[in-house]
This record gives sequence, C-alpha cells and structure tokens, in this order.
Amino acid sequence: MSYQLLRPLLFKLEPEFSHHVSLKTLKLMYQLKLAQAFLPKVCLKPKKLWGLEFANAVGLAAGLDKNGDYIDCLAALGFGFIEVGTVTPKAQEGNPNPRLFRLPKARALINRMGFNNKGIDYLIEQVIQAKYQGVLGINIGKNASTPIELALDDYVIGMQKAYPHASYITVNISSPNTAGLRQLQHGEFLNFLLAGIKLEQANCERLHHKKVPILIKVAPDLTEQEVIELADAFLRHQIEGIIATNTTVSRAGVEAFAISKQAGGLSGFPLLNKSTEILKLFKQELKGQIPIIASGGIVSEQAAQEKMAAGADLVQLYTGLIYQGPALVKRCAELL
Ligand SMILES: Cc1cc2nc3c(=O)[nH]c(=O)nc-3n(C[C@H](O)[C@H](O)[C@H](O)COP(=O)(O)O)c2cc1C
Repeated sequence: MSYQLLRPLLFKLEPEFSHHVSLKTLKLMYQLKLAQAFLPKVCLKPKKLWGLEFANAVGLAAGLDKNGDYIDCLAALGFGFIEVGTVTPKAQEGNPNPRLFRLPKARALINRMGFNNKGIDYLIEQVIQAKYQGVLGINIGKNASTPIELALDDYVIGMQKAYPHASYITVNISSPNTAGLRQLQHGEFLNFLLAGIKLEQANCERLHHKKVPILIKVAPDLTEQEVIELADAFLRHQIEGIIATNTTVSRAGVEAFAISKQAGGLSGFPLLNKSTEILKLFKQELKGQIPIIASGGIVSEQAAQEKMAAGADLVQLYTGLIYQGPALVKRCAELL
C-alpha cells in the first residue's frame, strides 16, 4: 500500500501512538521480509567523508529511533546513513504526554519529547544486535537531572560507550526541550565542553585504535555573531563536523495555527529557510574546513538540493518522512 493512502489513517491516531504503530509495523514487515520486497532498493550514490563510505547523501535524522530499536528496518527505507539517539547515560521518561503535535497544513511538527530514552547501555545492545553495516551515527545528550555545569561528565560517558560502535558521534547541544542545554553553545560552557570532548576522543582513539569523528549539532536560533563565535570555537578545537540544524523555538510562519502555541521545537517546512540561512553562515565562517550535514525542513527533493547548494555535504530528514513517506528518501538520494 502506498504511503499516501496510509497517511490519512496514521494521522487519525494520536501522533506519538502513530509513531510507535508505524515503526512496529515497519519492523514486522522487515522481519517477514515484506519490507524488502515492497520498498525500493537503496539508491547507491556513494559519498566519502571522514573516511566513511555513505551509500548516498540522505540520512535519517536523530530522534526517530532514540533507542536503536529499528536500525535494520529504517535502513531498508533507503537511507545512506542512520543516526540513532539522542541517548543519555541513564534512562529517562522525557516530558509528560502529549508532547508531539502535527501541523499538517504547514507540513510541520512541534515536539517537546525531552530525550525520552532507555539509556545508552540499552542502545548499544541494539546496535550490536543490528545487521546493518552502513554508516551509523550515535547522538548523545545529557540527562535532565544532570546540572549544566556537569554536562561534560554525561557526554564523556556517552562517548566512552558509543565510541567502539559508532561511525560518528553527534554531540547534541541544541535541543530546546532540555532546560539549559542550549547554554552549552556559548562562551565558557562551549570551550570547556569542546576541550573535554576532544580530550576524550583522543583517549578513546588510543584505546580503540580508530578515530571516530565528532559532530556538533547546532540550533537554528542563533544570531550571526553567535554563529561566528561557534564556528571559531569549532575550528580552534578541530571539531570534525557539524549538523545544522536542530528544531526551532520560533513560530514564524505558523502563528495562524492554534497548535503553534504548544511549547517545543518546530520542524518541517517552516524551518527550512531559517535553517538554511544558518547553514550558509556556518559554511562561510568555517571556510570549507569542517563538513556540514544539513537538517531542517527537507520535505521535498528540491529542499534537499537547496541544502547542497547552500554548502551541505550530506543531508538528514525526519519530518519529511512523516509527511511524504519513504519515497522522499529515494527521490532525494537520486537527485543528490
Ligand atoms: C519528534 C522529534 C524528535 C526529535 N528528537 C531529536 C533528538 O532526540 N535528538 C536530536 O538531535 N534531534 C532530534 N530531533 C530533531 C531532528 O533530528 C531534526 O534535526 C529536526 O527535526 C529538523 O529536521 P526536519 O525538519 O527534517 O524534521 C527531533 C525531531 C522531532 C520531530
């Protein structure tokens, strides 16, 4: 059945319930080998970055598979790479329900999930059990109960556990749904964090005899001056890559919808231009020295192309998958 026929049914369900139903159904179809029969083959347009072979330029963004429960079946949708997480050292519930909202007319979502996840040990178990051999990013965060001054401790735990199993590690300092997290993008917090992360990367490299690139995921809600300062810090600390961007706290373009009053991060089409502007600024300030994965508002193949034209090396999507289904992955991958 095509996704366009299935979507009205899924959209009748409460958004988070629909998310679980969809993923569980996909996994069952995969286990019964039905997914492989009905889904298009992975579009092979290899890209090489950080010494890694990406099957194509289109990745799954973090947050859809927070615990690594669905790696193999999500890979069967044709992604060139998969990012799991955000995962925290200890399991945590996240924010109370409801915490995920659709804005169908705007092709957008608002979420305030708050890093609900089963903890990094559980995630690593799933990664070990997965058959997937492609590029796998593990996105790490801090527990809500960890004070911001001790955030580095949580990221170090995440790095130590993820390092042997990840193709790359994303350090998420840009979710709007963990109080204070975005402070890590500024000033002394930022310098302290980046220095600690690089030190841990060097320790892990010695221990595991491989270099796993560290990517920092940034918010779209940054001023030009903040981008300049972040880019300078990324260059000084020799960060390997960035993901631009996470969701936005802005409601520009969706003010007319009552649901826009909900707190959380806005994703999907209304995020596209804002996120691309930040991507362009980073591209300029990083002087081509640090590769960028673009995320934010890719709900069509044209949007994916815009991101590449703005300087992205690879792209990721989440909300587009909810609105367009897996066909979007193939269309984007063929074009890039
Ligand atoms: C429901 C939901 C949960 C998300 N959870 C995470 C997360 O745990 N970690 C993270 O780095 N980004 C998370 N994101 C952000 C996405 O990875 C992505 O960067 C953002 O949604 C913009 O891309 P999009 O417009 O294609 O959705 C989440 C997004 C949504 C919609």
